[in-house]
Amino acid sequence: MKKSNKRKEKGGKRHKVRSNFKRSRDQQGPAKFYTKDDIFISRMASILRMPKGKIKGMFSQRAVTTIRLNPLASNVNKIYKRLDDKGLDMKKVDWSPNTFIVSNKDKSELGKTEEYEKGLFYIQNLSSMLPVVALDPKPGEIVLDMCAAPGSKTTFIAAEMENQGEIVANDENFSRIKSLEQVISQFHVKNTKVRIGDGSTIGKSQPNYYDKVLLDAPCSGEGLIYLRTPKPLRFWNIKKIKIMEKVQKKLIVSAYDSLKPGGILIYSTCTLEPDENEGVVSYLLDKFKDAKLEDIGFIKDEKFEEYRPFVTNGITKWSGNEYNPITKKSTRIIPGKHMQGFYIAKIVKPLIKEA
Ligand SMILES: C[S@@+](CC[C@H](N)C(=O)[O-])C[C@H]1O[C@@H](n2cnc3c(N)ncnc32)[C@H](O)[C@@H]1O
Repeated sequence: MKKSNKRKEKGGKRHKVRSNFKRSRDQQGPAKFYTKDDIFISRMASILRMPKGKIKGMFSQRAVTTIRLNPLASNVNKIYKRLDDKGLDMKKVDWSPNTFIVSNKDKSELGKTEEYEKGLFYIQNLSSMLPVVALDPKPGEIVLDMCAAPGSKTTFIAAEMENQGEIVANDENFSRIKSLEQVISQFHVKNTKVRIGDGSTIGKSQPNYYDKVLLDAPCSGEGLIYLRTPKPLRFWNIKKIKIMEKVQKKLIVSAYDSLKPGGILIYSTCTLEPDENEGVVSYLLDKFKDAKLEDIGFIKDEKFEEYRPFVTNGITKWSGNEYNPITKKSTRIIPGKHMQGFYIAKIVKPLIKEA
């Protein structure tokens, strides 16, 4: 029996391979068809440079439960003691402030506790903490969180800034803005102004304004895909990747424009697609020749050693596309038991040279 017929018997939607996956040329005869699962698995194997056989297992594991104690709510030692007394089994994560792996409670149990209700801790995946650690916000700075809702990273930025200075937390989605406002209030954030609007206009309205900008961009979300749920790929398709790439390019240009000379921009996504990651960063570097891409420094620290096997350098060539060779300095997180799939790049706007 031909492979395509075998698949047909199993049922499921068929997709003719387009875009980055060309039809095999080594055989004459009818076009070969693939299921959406086939396409996703081949694509991930190619991006992560791993055998296809490993991909399903990789996207079928849940990341450990991690929490961040909230210094804006109370003294973190007191919060730790209170959670310890309640029986939480907590292991410190050295590279991220006030962060712990909780091994005996899952996220939904933790979300129902009085301590969570009071904003004493935040439940957050480790990948989602990386961009804020890389941004390294300081008290007194002016920071833009360009795509902020529902506010996981805003609350962390505010904690690092000790509620001093100013954060502008922007998002274009009204219902998500409501969640952002609720999160800001629950987690005792006081230094943040919420803005609703398209982030791609901020660069023009506030050029050279922010000390630091976080662009945690909308994306195709491959890092969040969990293959054990029913229909895990229902929101994933190649067309979405292409649409996202266009939005991301507009946003990154605006983010860079809004940055003060000497300022830092962190670009992050929860997807693995090179066109949404290295492709977008290359677009910025081509447009602004003075923009500098830097390493995510702390990833080289000893504190990060345990997590280093889950980190790879940026890709410079993929599926016929070539990206700026400097994008090698960016970082991709391989999905695993500690972290979800993620991408992060650090860009610095140089200081203006004296004449
Ligand atoms: C990855 S989510 C952000 C998650 C958030 N940073 C956090 O940590 O909780 C991307 C967000 O971008 C917002 N978004 C999409 N297009 C946008 C645009 N053009 N301008 C501003 N926000 C946008 C979406 O509404 C969504 O909330």
